[in-house]
Amino acid sequence: MTNKLKVGIIGLGSMGTTHLDIYSKIKEVEITAIADSIQSRLDGTTKAEGNISGQAEGGVTGLSATKYLDGMDLINNADIDIVDICVGTDLHFVFVEAALAKGKHVLVEKPLARTYDEAKKIVQLAEGSECYVMSAMCLRYWPAWVYLKEAIQTNQFGKCLSLNCKRQTSFPGGAFYSDHHQCGGALLDLHVHDTDFINYCLGLPDAVFSQGYVGPSGGIDHIVTNYIYKKSGSSTLVSSEGTWTMQEGYGFNMSFTANFENGTLSYLLDDDETLKLFRAGEVPESIKLKEGMGYEFEIRTFIDEILSGNKTNFELLKQAAETIKIIEAEKKSIDTCKVVSI
Ligand SMILES: NC(=O)c1ccc[n+]([C@@H]2O[C@H](COP(=O)([O-])OP(=O)(O)OC[C@H]3O[C@@H](n4cnc5c(N)ncnc54)[C@H](O)[C@@H]3O)[C@@H](O)[C@H]2O)c1
Repeated sequence: MTNKLKVGIIGLGSMGTTHLDIYSKIKEVEITAIADSIQSRLDGTTKAEGNISGQAEGGVTGLSATKYLDGMDLINNADIDIVDICVGTDLHFVFVEAALAKGKHVLVEKPLARTYDEAKKIVQLAEGSECYVMSAMCLRYWPAWVYLKEAIQTNQFGKCLSLNCKRQTSFPGGAFYSDHHQCGGALLDLHVHDTDFINYCLGLPDAVFSQGYVGPSGGIDHIVTNYIYKKSGSSTLVSSEGTWTMQEGYGFNMSFTANFENGTLSYLLDDDETLKLFRAGEVPESIKLKEGMGYEFEIRTFIDEILSGNKTNFELLKQAAETIKIIEAEKKSIDTCKVVSI
């Protein structure tokens, strides 16, 4: 018998294997079961790859866990305390619903759901459940963004005048990303990180104005958005760009530039990770960040919340749902070429 929390992971793509790696290093957790509908991913003869160094490092070889070809069978395993849902976005809602019906704690990959309607239903189900539910919005836990949020909220460099976030990569490929009905295109799948951070850090915008174009997923795969906060003149100027239409071989980068009254913060993650602070009259400073990726701090937080017996943090879960409302407004803005209220 063990007192460890027993986790089952559904979906062994780039994210499932990233989570697998992280759980294997947490002493309070035991990976009891894994599920994937592709036999070779289950038995470890094939393996998904990530797009950032440090992702998808987990492997199933040597893992003593019960294996299922269907994630629903894993949910029916009475021995499991936590279900970690890493299947494609269009399947998030049905798996969250089934896991909560069986009394499991749930970590569900981002975005919370494929549509705002489904995301709202997840929030309702979580409200009626004793179990802990977390949306894996990893940027909320990524050290550079944690630093940025604190800088904005404490006014340590004065008021934040502008924030621009960017994330660019070539097309990830594969069945899930090639079908916008499943993944929601780069608009929902990639750009959601920045939209969510903006919502989490600055609150729900009053309106958005977006432009974008269709790419290889068949949906919007390159998007540029201005987030409008109505207190014009005093509000932060906020914009973001997300794309996976870069030519093959371009790689992946994510960045932000935040301009404050008394400083400019500039972050870039490509092959390396740098956060720089520029202040008038001072030598530019490289800020030392806590080592590690957002995924591990996010999963650590999730496990700590369960261990401490806390209820679901509904504010965070609701924000993850509202992020999808903003994404849907961005899509409407692209379609109509108009400012769309949230
Ligand atoms: N947080 C991040 O930075 C980040 C990065 C990449 C992907 N994601 C998210 O993670 C999710 C998965 O993305 P991915 O790149 O790992 O996708 P993927 O397609 O590589 O992996 C999904 C896996 O789920 C399996 N699967 C599908 N239906 C199943 C079922 N019924 N039972 C068991 N297994 C099933 C598939 O066989 C596949 O191996 C998506 O929602 C995506 O948006 C998040």
